[in-house]
Amino acid sequence: MKLADNKATLSFSNGGPSVELPVYQGSIGPDVIDIRKLYAQTGMFTYDPGFLSTASCQSAITYIDGDKGELLYRGYPIEQLAVNCDFLETCHLLLYGELPNADQKKTFSDTVTRHTMVNEQMQFFLRGFRRDAHPMAVLTGLVGGLSAFYHDSTDINNPEHREIAAIRLIAKMPTLVSMAYKYGIGQPYMYPRNELSYAGNFLRMMFGVPPEDYVVNPVLERALDRIFILHADHEQNASTSTVRLCGSSGTNPFAAIAAGVACLWGPAHGGANEACLNMLEDIQRNGGVSKVGEFMEKVKDKSSGVKLMGFGHRVYKNYDPRAKLMQETCNEVLNELGLENDPLFKLAKELEKIALEDDYFVQRKLYPNVDFYSGIVQRAIGIPVNLFTGIFALARTVGWIAQLNEMIGDPEYKIGRPRQLFDGATKRDVKPLAQR
Ligand code: SDX
Repeated sequence: MKLADNKATLSFSNGGPSVELPVYQGSIGPDVIDIRKLYAQTGMFTYDPGFLSTASCQSAITYIDGDKGELLYRGYPIEQLAVNCDFLETCHLLLYGELPNADQKKTFSDTVTRHTMVNEQMQFFLRGFRRDAHPMAVLTGLVGGLSAFYHDSTDINNPEHREIAAIRLIAKMPTLVSMAYKYGIGQPYMYPRNELSYAGNFLRMMFGVPPEDYVVNPVLERALDRIFILHADHEQNASTSTVRLCGSSGTNPFAAIAAGVACLWGPAHGGANEACLNMLEDIQRNGGVSKVGEFMEKVKDKSSGVKLMGFGHRVYKNYDPRAKLMQETCNEVLNELGLENDPLFKLAKELEKIALEDDYFVQRKLYPNVDFYSGIVQRAIGIPVNLFTGIFALARTVGWIAQLNEMIGDPEYKIGRPRQLFDGATKRDVKPLAQR
């Protein structure tokens, strides 16, 4: 970042001394007012719960223009990456800043492939869970548990440790997610196969069974790979900010990523794809398209607490570019599987059409986000609803680890420790029990 030819002056109506604050600019996007010295100079904090106007860091990884509906990974538009690259090329880009050439791609892909197995002991973690445990509860435990196996790579300040931990996490997430799935349905775990692609390997570990060979469907393989690309990173969202804050204490990368998995689970964040599909199934069960109007009235009635899941976004005040690409992928998969008349897809498109013409949504700039169509395409592939967020976590692991490594790699980073506006009880004395 560099100093802008602009300054901010903070003055106080009570006659307190004004304060000059430097303004910095990045390569694109809003400038920032540097308030790092504000407390020392004024004895006051800024107040921004939810961080609507706060830049928590400087980063060179992902840029979002919410008004234009633009998403760039290291400068490349998501629309171009989704068509011209695969997920492992995107991982290389997010981690190292550049798309790989053919040799680099082969080396990176081979390295990831050779880390896809997990320690045989990992399978015994799962036995502690009930078979009907939510896969995100299992995954949070499994990812955190990885740190118990890799004492050779838990010093987050060691660049080599960060590198091998990144590879291990990207490589093992598909194995762990498929283990959580297999455990839930009582089928044996499938070991990874080194001759398969990243997405193909995951499909086989999910849907393959020991008694027969599994043939990867190339359309589903490509669709899943694209779903991974679309979910790979997204600036300082809630789970990425969680990973950064957790990692800032110097904890090991596996623990920091486990914190990200836990945060992503929430229905306002990565859990929205599961909540969105459940919403579509509820509407379908209660009458389908004919009931959309009634449902939308509930959504617009604040007292109902009903939200149109998969719609709205803190940053996008235009169409989420990932939602457009997800809808295309949905079309491809449903056509491939002969499900082009899938009632939920029709229902989703009807909901979107109505919402985009309704003043409530137009005024609030509410558009479909990445979660609106992702559930329909994952369900068509055969992924159970309660595993959708696990797929999101699998894909977002590369973004979390790239953002964590960027923070730790900055010699100026400090442990994150926000302050507060306190409005609780002022100092008072404890009365003996008999007097309370
Ligand atoms: C992800 O941050 C990221 O980048 C996240 C993510 C990523 O890749 O990491 O993009 C992934 O989490 C996508 C978002 C998934 N969540 C959902 O689809 C859940 C439904 N959406 C909402 O909960 C909401 O839109 C949020 C949480 C996504 C954004 O919330 P904000 O920015 O705090 O906005 P808000 O709740 O203040 O909404 C503004 C207004 C409010 O109405 P008013 O108070 O102004 O009258 O819009 C309304 C909200 O009530 N509103 C909705 C709505 N979303 C917002 N009303 C109905 N349905 C919705 N979905």
